[in-house]
Amino acid sequence: MKKSLLEVVVKGIRQLTPRVREYLLCSLDASPLPSYAPGSHIELHTVSPESGPIIRHYSLVGGAGLWDDTPDTYRIAVQREDRRRGSAHIHDSFGIGTILRVSVPKNNFPLDRRDTKSLLLAGGIGITPILSMLRSLVRRHRDFELVYAGRAGADLAYCADVQRLAGARGRIHESGSDNHLDLRALLTAQPGGTTVYICGPAAMVDATRREASTLGWVDTRVRSELFIAGPTGDEVPFDVELKASKRRIHVGRDTTILDALAAAGVHALHDCRRGECGLCPMTVLEADGPIQHRDTYLSEEERTSQKTLCICVSRIKGARLLLDA
Ligand code: FES
Repeated sequence: MKKSLLEVVVKGIRQLTPRVREYLLCSLDASPLPSYAPGSHIELHTVSPESGPIIRHYSLVGGAGLWDDTPDTYRIAVQREDRRRGSAHIHDSFGIGTILRVSVPKNNFPLDRRDTKSLLLAGGIGITPILSMLRSLVRRHRDFELVYAGRAGADLAYCADVQRLAGARGRIHESGSDNHLDLRALLTAQPGGTTVYICGPAAMVDATRREASTLGWVDTRVRSELFIAGPTGDEVPFDVELKASKRRIHVGRDTTILDALAAAGVHALHDCRRGECGLCPMTVLEADGPIQHRDTYLSEEERTSQKTLCICVSRIKGARLLLDA
């Protein structure tokens, strides 16, 4: 086992919505798990019979009690993606007593409780880190406002918790073709010194950043975490060849290049695993198919050059990829 990984056991399972299931993870000997701050996530390492090793990121939701913001157990919420075998594998095979390996908590999305006001924006399953932040702000009597957006008619995980905690300072926004969230109005109404924390799909995060920039918000006042959308369904398996070592490694339809390399014992520099941080891009020497870029880090120019890709999320639609590694 990788030294930094913890062994935990599934102690509780709750079906939150038809697609979202919550897992309560505890240490094997019931001792407290390493502590964490709101916004943190863990990496969950598992092996799917179909896809091989899988690593997925899940935000820590906080305690089961409304006021228990950073307990010594971990709760994660896993949304089943029809075409994503990682989450389907978790739903289908994890039960009470399943032993898992997870990383210690990491936090790329920290909450600064010194903000004059925190504007919390969640899109769909992006509510998970936001709920932990909400609990923390309520408990400490900090000023905040929350908007939880979801598709009209969709079941939203933790909806009742959010409404109860946020009270009049929170609202649920049902998005539809004729009912878009008015981000400009929302941001314009905020007092100076507000920081917006947003977790949701790329389009929502991008739109918030764009509006904030137009309104003159400094970058540091917009903090975000992407909820990575499921695959498009047109992924194909391919082989990666590493120029330096001449190794050839298979990348299955449901895994990433980064995970396939790790499973083969090849360590590649990385951090976020979401295509955000820019640590993992590798130079492409040859590819017999187009690159499917799924990061938010590379510039448009870099994408169209087809000379580099973020191995944590991007892939090719071909059979062979030669990397300068
Ligand atoms: S690990 Fe951060 S962009 Fe790939």
